[in-house]
Amino acid sequence: MDIHVVILAAGKGTRMKSALPKVLHRVAGLPLIEYVLAGAAALRPHSTTVVVGHQTEALRSALSRRRDLTFVVQEPQLGTAHALLQTESALRGATGMLVLLSGDVPLLTAETLKTLVDRHTGRGASATVVTAVVDDPRSYGRIVRSGEQIARIVEEKDATSAEREIREINSGIYAFALEGLFDAVRSIAAENAQNEYYLPDLVSIDRRKGLVVETVTVSNADEIRGINSRSELAAVSRIVRDQKNAELMAAGVTIEDPATVYIDRDVTVGADTVIHPGVYLEGTTTIGVGCEIHSGARIVDSQIGDRVIVFNHTVINSSRVADDARIGPFAHLRPETDVREKARVGNFVELKKTVLGAGSKAGHLAYLGDASIGEKVNIGAGTITCNYDGVNKTKTTIEDGAFIGSDTQLVAPVTVGRGAYVGSGSTIRENVPAGALAVSAGKQRNIDGWVEERKKKDRD
Ligand code: UD1
Ligand code: CA
Repeated sequence: MDIHVVILAAGKGTRMKSALPKVLHRVAGLPLIEYVLAGAAALRPHSTTVVVGHQTEALRSALSRRRDLTFVVQEPQLGTAHALLQTESALRGATGMLVLLSGDVPLLTAETLKTLVDRHTGRGASATVVTAVVDDPRSYGRIVRSGEQIARIVEEKDATSAEREIREINSGIYAFALEGLFDAVRSIAAENAQNEYYLPDLVSIDRRKGLVVETVTVSNADEIRGINSRSELAAVSRIVRDQKNAELMAAGVTIEDPATVYIDRDVTVGADTVIHPGVYLEGTTTIGVGCEIHSGARIVDSQIGDRVIVFNHTVINSSRVADDARIGPFAHLRPETDVREKARVGNFVELKKTVLGAGSKAGHLAYLGDASIGEKVNIGAGTITCNYDGVNKTKTTIEDGAFIGSDTQLVAPVTVGRGAYVGSGSTIRENVPAGALAVSAGKQRNIDGWVEERKKKDRD
């Protein structure tokens, strides 16, 4: 049977109090809507339609690489039934079933969606509702049953006090038979406490017609948690992170204090890597085996090899660090940095768009930008590449085995040849040939008795 997915994401998200559309708020590094799209993709749908309303452009541009999505605008937003109705022309001629998802319910698993589809098809249902039994049903629609059968859904604001006691709630996730669906949705009235067109009213409408309405009750109620506020966002993020940490630990990663570690969903970490408290691993970061990541490190969209040690308070962004390298403490690798095997980057060293060759060392207090540094190079403390003249960025090349003395400025574009030495305190404006020694600091002058002289002058 054909499956067509509709994702509702047009609501104002008032309770978020945000300029950003609710479904673009991030849970463990990924926008809410990405979780929902990933769940939908597991059904291999014939089409996926997203109903947008508020900040339509922001949403469209955030999802612009998803060519398979159809966007439908709902304006004004008159409720969930009204939202679904807006997809009618996009789905003209479609047959089979419509799976309706909510853009603000990110944790629904692919298994539950498959169960929903199977139950719906198996029972020949007109509508199938995903439900859950929860301790605190407030803010959800309640499932009213007559006997075993679902009779209708009542929203919190319309419920009697007896109905409010019901702990089985509507997840807002459904499967509907497409045949006759839009006519039935059109018959929904807005006669309720919120004067909105409620999609859940379809349940009682179908039941009155004698159609089959089914339910699928999830055993883990976390799956159907909807996000309406910042505190719900934080609570759901916590669930995703706990899950991620548990998966990594099961796969052989040591996480000393999981409650304080923030690892985004798509991050991978190899076995026997140790992650200390207070570490952030974000985006598409991958960490190899046997690494040690110390407290306060933040690694974003970067590839870290095997047996790498990242010392405390190091920030690594969009960079690569090869096997057996050591970084930090207090190092900053900015985008497009490539630290090769066994290289060392020490404290207060910043690299940007720089290759630091295998076995090379920059141990202390340096800025290396737009530089190509060969193997076994020694960069002394206080070395600075002057890569920017206010208009253009230019390159510094340091060839294999060179030794750059402390407090050197390398004014790019400039090349230090293979095995060359640069004396401390030099300002290098011209290329240094391979094997040469370059010194630019003036000869030292000592003026005997100068201090006494000055003191005498001050007294006069
Ligand atoms: C809805 C259900 C409720 C269910 C809960 C589960 C209704 C009337 N109630 O309530 O039974 O327990 O979800 O989380 O459906 N949206 C639009 N256009 C609109 C209104 C909403 O696209 O005009 C979208 C929202 O962006 C959101 C989804 O529909 O993604 C649900 O809307 P929301 O306002 O959050 O409904 P709830 O009050 O949570
Ligand atoms: Ca909601």
